[in-house]
Amino acid sequence: MSDICIEGGIRLKGEIKIQGSKNAVLPILAASVLHPGITVLESVPLIRDVWASVEIIEFLGGKVSVTGDQMEIDTRFLTSKEIPKRLGERMRSSVLFLGAMLARFGEAALYRPGGCAIGSRPVDLHLRGLESLGVMFLPDDSRIHAQISRWQGGEVHLTYPSVGATEQLLLAAAGNGEITRIYGAAREPEIVTLCEFLVQTGILQMEGIGTGTLVMCGGRESRDSCFRIPGDRIAAGTYLAAAALTRGEVQLHQILASHMTSTLKAFQKMGCSVGTGDQWIQLKGPSRLKNLPFLATNPFPEFPTDMQSAFLVMMTVADGHSVMEENVFEDRLAMAESLRDMGADIQVQGRRAFCRGVSRLRGAKVSGTDLRCGAALVLAGLNADGQTIVNNYEYVLRG
Ligand code: UD1
Repeated sequence: MSDICIEGGIRLKGEIKIQGSKNAVLPILAASVLHPGITVLESVPLIRDVWASVEIIEFLGGKVSVTGDQMEIDTRFLTSKEIPKRLGERMRSSVLFLGAMLARFGEAALYRPGGCAIGSRPVDLHLRGLESLGVMFLPDDSRIHAQISRWQGGEVHLTYPSVGATEQLLLAAAGNGEITRIYGAAREPEIVTLCEFLVQTGILQMEGIGTGTLVMCGGRESRDSCFRIPGDRIAAGTYLAAAALTRGEVQLHQILASHMTSTLKAFQKMGCSVGTGDQWIQLKGPSRLKNLPFLATNPFPEFPTDMQSAFLVMMTVADGHSVMEENVFEDRLAMAESLRDMGADIQVQGRRAFCRGVSRLRGAKVSGTDLRCGAALVLAGLNADGQTIVNNYEYVLRG
């Protein structure tokens, strides 16, 4: 495991082009398996989880080439219907190949996925949803082994708007010539992007994109396509937080402010000045952040769980008391302990973290336990007096 070392206290100022969205590109990489042809993706973030997906596609028999941030994927001649353990356990999104392989081959076998340690992260909603479309699960102790003999149309009612389960069902529906309706679907921008990709390539006919009720029909001939991945709203929010925490000023390019409404509002409430335009956002941090009496994470369009850690850091240095409530992943407040090591006054009770802002954090040696927590500790280091060392930097490189 590697470390990153940060000298804090420097005011950050500048412009940056935002990389393509990690959470948008990963399901689209799985979706490339649906089309027995060539898919070109532009603005691909060349991060670890993307390379892990590329290895899966290559294992299945696909060919991938990369020029700059453009990726060409040729899945004409796939030979495997299985993903081995060593490839599946690297990241959570490997499970999305299940729906895509079922749609392409009628069969798939893979191990339960790995990913960040932010809670139990079950896949029960994925599997139950697939069952309602006619998928059968074969007895297998360690793997998920699924087969479909005849797709059936129907309705899937998600009891929670799970991002992954919605993506899984969209990918599986590609093989289904009957009409599928998903009620209670997730509405995150990354779901909209996946729907747009599936429609553009001719894989699905769809209605209701961007709403909680998605109606779709697959089983159609797909075509080669070129698709641009939109900017990463979480990476963007992380850079904005870096400016907010250092009295800095940044301008971000290639990012849609409409993907970040709740996050930008929270920055404003904490005293930051925010400006937005066509694919750009700028933020100027105040001399001292204002407290935020209450902020809760929830599914889109509410405040995203992936921005929670960054805002928790901001709350630790805001002027007054703030409360953060985490409603999506149960273990995501675990970084409070590292922040305490950096001088924060923060107590966690159940889903809530209670912060009393100190004027500034102090440098310390801390450990990232997941991608967003690792990135947030880097943010804390930017604010802190002295040197901060963040262990397990591998997690941050995943995104
Ligand atoms: C995706 C994002 C992640 C983001 C999250 C919520 C990717 C690669 N990851 O993760 O960055 O934080 O959405 O916006 O896109 N759940 C179940 N059963 C299931 C599935 C989920 O109980 O079958 C629960 C989870 O444990 C969690 C909640 O639902 O508590 C949200 O999970 P979900 O929306 O599925 O998130 P992911 O797709 O894993």
